[in-house]
Amino acid sequence: MSDIQSVLTEARLFPPSAAFAAAARLNKEKLAALCAEAEKDPVEFWAELARKNIAWQTPFTKALDDSKAPNYRWFVGGKTNASANCLDRHLATKADKIAIRFEGDKGDTKNWTYRQLHADVSKLANGLKSLGVTKGDRVVLYMPHTPEAVIAMQACARIGAIHSIVFGGFSSGSLRDRIEDAGAKVVITADGNTRGGNLIELKKAVNEALSSGCKTIEKVIVLKRTGHDVGFDAPRDVWWHDLVAQQSASCDPEWVEADHPLFLLYTSGSTGKPKGIQHSTGGYMVGAHMTSQWVFDLKESDVFWCTADVGWITGHSYVCYGPLSNGATILMYEGVPTFPDAGRFWKIAQDHGVTIFYTAPTAIRALMKLGEEWPNKYDLSKLRLLGSVGEPINPEAWMWYHRVIGKEKLPIVDTWWQTETGAIMMSPIPGATATKPGSCTQPLPGIFADVVDEAGEPVKGLEAGGYLVITKPWPSMLSTIWGDNERYVKTYYGQFPGKNLYVAGDSTHRDKDGYYWIMGRIDDVLNVSGHRLGTMEIESALVSHTRVAEAAVVGRPHEVKGESVFAFVTCKGARPHGDEAAKLIKELREHVGKEIGALAKPDDIRFADNLPKTRSGKIMRRLLRSIAKGEEITQDISTLENPGIVAQLAGKE
Ligand code: WTA
Repeated sequence: MSDIQSVLTEARLFPPSAAFAAAARLNKEKLAALCAEAEKDPVEFWAELARKNIAWQTPFTKALDDSKAPNYRWFVGGKTNASANCLDRHLATKADKIAIRFEGDKGDTKNWTYRQLHADVSKLANGLKSLGVTKGDRVVLYMPHTPEAVIAMQACARIGAIHSIVFGGFSSGSLRDRIEDAGAKVVITADGNTRGGNLIELKKAVNEALSSGCKTIEKVIVLKRTGHDVGFDAPRDVWWHDLVAQQSASCDPEWVEADHPLFLLYTSGSTGKPKGIQHSTGGYMVGAHMTSQWVFDLKESDVFWCTADVGWITGHSYVCYGPLSNGATILMYEGVPTFPDAGRFWKIAQDHGVTIFYTAPTAIRALMKLGEEWPNKYDLSKLRLLGSVGEPINPEAWMWYHRVIGKEKLPIVDTWWQTETGAIMMSPIPGATATKPGSCTQPLPGIFADVVDEAGEPVKGLEAGGYLVITKPWPSMLSTIWGDNERYVKTYYGQFPGKNLYVAGDSTHRDKDGYYWIMGRIDDVLNVSGHRLGTMEIESALVSHTRVAEAAVVGRPHEVKGESVFAFVTCKGARPHGDEAAKLIKELREHVGKEIGALAKPDDIRFADNLPKTRSGKIMRRLLRSIAKGEEITQDISTLENPGIVAQLAGKE
């Protein structure tokens, strides 16, 4: 409740400047016209945009087939190719324009023009074909955040192969699970890379994953990035440079049906193992393309820097597919914001003339803590638009972003969306929408959101709080969960049977101006530094340690990360104390790092003899959340099987 109150007292309003609005693709009037059109006929609205903005080899005959709802099929009968949309169609007019500017962790730089990118993508696509990869095959990418990752995505798309990127911070165990679930044929990786000066052993993790399973993998393509010695198992392993050396720089795109899967991306849910979110080609491209124009106001001269790694959905839609399909210049940076010092992000923005900067609240908060003298050292005058994504941005961080980076002039777009939605769903339009610090404002044209109560009934009135739902299908929505359509239907459309509402899993508040304020997840999903983690996944990782009997994981508010992982653990044998406890905590953190990845390591681990359970055996998570926050326990604990445990869980015994 306290969060809701704090944002509801937020009354500051920041209208777009007249200068920005005058030059923007969309001003208030144009936005209103788009919204009106979308209201009138949402399906035809998207169909018209799809016809005008996407290159189709075969035009679609039906904009939306909803006969098997909630399995919607967009642009039926149409054939297209994502890579052709991102590359080929720019060759006639902007072959020599820079598509990608790159800066490595160590400061090395390299640029790719659209012509070069097209050639490199085509060579790798031909290389993949030579290894027997064909339409529909799955290719897992476990790559550093370098242009080669984008080249690999585009090469897969070019031949109709389905890429599935696993973020390089995930462990070999997570990689193995994802490879196996996807049934992938090929892995593309690098020997390794550095981030913040630290070596990331990508190939080593691939070796580990493959030695413990992954029987479907036939080939591993290895990019040489560090040049350090890695286990190389020819002929299974092939060097990227050897594979492309003899390949032609021309490769006809494979025209695929609009609903042919473009990629899978695994994300955490409230139960069980991560799910492979499956995105289509046609619908996804329409969403990524249009939102890049609307939200980022992309212009010919922009240098667009989305700081997200390609391993996340933000990297898919706003590093790769959205900006490139618009023929924009993007910047990719391999490293972390604070290496070698706290000015790195701002130095990069200055050196590369970045005009649009899109990052996560966790980065803003971390940089805010380091002091404004860092950004103030650099010339940020080329910046014209700022963005935020991944988690709620607290008004304090928003104001710092506005004042210190935006010099109180630049619009800020706080964009709400999800891996599942494929593209931004709610956001200010920078030339049209007055912003409020902490609100993602309103749905984009063609997106229909609402707030519903426990029964799925719309919460009426101007001030409404409840579940965030999307009431109509949209082109870039997930097609399904890979290999588990039942789970798709149940997870996203099962909460309110018969109502056909997409349940986002977030709670929200809508204020009197119709602005949305996202309050956070309603399920057991944590958002740690903008990364989605399932509490169940972390609990399973903990329980797989020999000493652990039971574990319950909750989130604790964290100043920089937004949320941190707090684990309550019961042990086999006596509860550890003192040095033994400290040693086991260290061991368990490492263990979770090994099982899932460093991003999932608990910040806090507390041992207890028991977990708080109701008489029916359910763990009372609400209580654990309060304890993790250090709150006074005011809840009724009389339904607990073991009320005496509360003091111990609170660290008081
Ligand atoms: C949260 C990231 C508040 C939300 C694109 C959502 C946000 C989850 C925002 C999806 C925002 C994302 N304001 N919360 N602007 N953007 N979220 O799949 O809880 O990694 O459900 O997609 O992040 O995370 P995902």
